[in-house]
Amino acid sequence: MPPIVSVRNAVKNYNLGKVVVPALRDVTLDVEAGAFLSIAGPSGSGKTTLLNLIGCVDTPTSGAVVVDGQDTSKLSERALTSLRLNTIGFIFQSFNLVSVLTVFQNIELPLLLQRKLSSAERKQRIQGLLDQVGIGSYAKHRPTELSGGQRQRVAVARALVTRPKLVLADEPTANLDSVTGQNIIDLMKELNRSEGTTFIFSTHDANVMKHANAVVRLADGKFVDRVTAAQAIGSHEVRAGSPVDPTRPAQSRVKEGQAGSPVDPTRPAQTRVKEGQAGSPVDPAHPAQSRVKEG
Ligand SMILES: Nc1ncnc2c1ncn2[C@@H]1O[C@H](COP(=O)(O)OP(=O)(O)OP(=O)(O)O)[C@@H](O)[C@H]1O
Ligand SMILES: [Mg+2]
Repeated sequence: MPPIVSVRNAVKNYNLGKVVVPALRDVTLDVEAGAFLSIAGPSGSGKTTLLNLIGCVDTPTSGAVVVDGQDTSKLSERALTSLRLNTIGFIFQSFNLVSVLTVFQNIELPLLLQRKLSSAERKQRIQGLLDQVGIGSYAKHRPTELSGGQRQRVAVARALVTRPKLVLADEPTANLDSVTGQNIIDLMKELNRSEGTTFIFSTHDANVMKHANAVVRLADGKFVDRVTAAQAIGSHEVRAGSPVDPTRPAQSRVKEGQAGSPVDPTRPAQTRVKEGQAGSPVDPAHPAQSRVKEG
């Protein structure tokens, strides 16, 4: 069976005026259908950038990204939107909820765009998911009235509501307490097992990573290696018991999510400005000399 995701020699450079930030340097990666794959690496190593390329939220500077058999560089805008809407569910690190819509409406948006379910079917599916992620009584709230962890759960529900075959999750438990985080992981694992949904998620948390059936490690935008969860957790890359990246305060991530309210829930506004990273490509919690050398 061909891989559901195939990334070929992907390079991503961000142009900031005179400065070019190399976010991904020649990354090649295949992900088989049904995988429960974790992307690991220090802050700034390119995890979000890689997920954005796979999720067709961003395009590589060079190289190719093939998703579900389709070379994304060859797709029209319409075809890309369809791929994002019907095949991919994306849990963004910054949530990307629409602040003027209620929790229910945020989750309903992709279903409305899909036009597959009746109003009653949508309601039933959304309420079921809200209960599963533990915010069943918040349907009528707006994102600004929720805590960071509650917003994250709305983002999880919105990504899963269309029952996509590929779910990309950028630190899906980063703002959650350990019990809620475990519930989200349990839900992901259950979908992986029962529906064969492929999950690719980034995380810094050993308690999340331990569930992965493989871990791809990045450093400085480069593919380092692909190891087992036990190997990744045994190394310096992951700090067990620290669900939140200490190099990126949770508060600032939550604020990020409020900037720019995209109309298309499958595609956030390109307003993401990385905080606390531009001048610090090296994770202070993980000095360069202890990183795994390539080759
Ligand atoms: N929109 C952007 N504009 C400019 N530079 C960017 C942008 N997005 C990411 N970068 C840079 O690309 C590099 C990789 O960033 P990325 O967000 O992919 O890292 P990450 O591994 O997800 O980090 P974290 O663990 O903090 O979420 C960093 O050096 C970052 O500063
Ligand atoms: Mg990130």
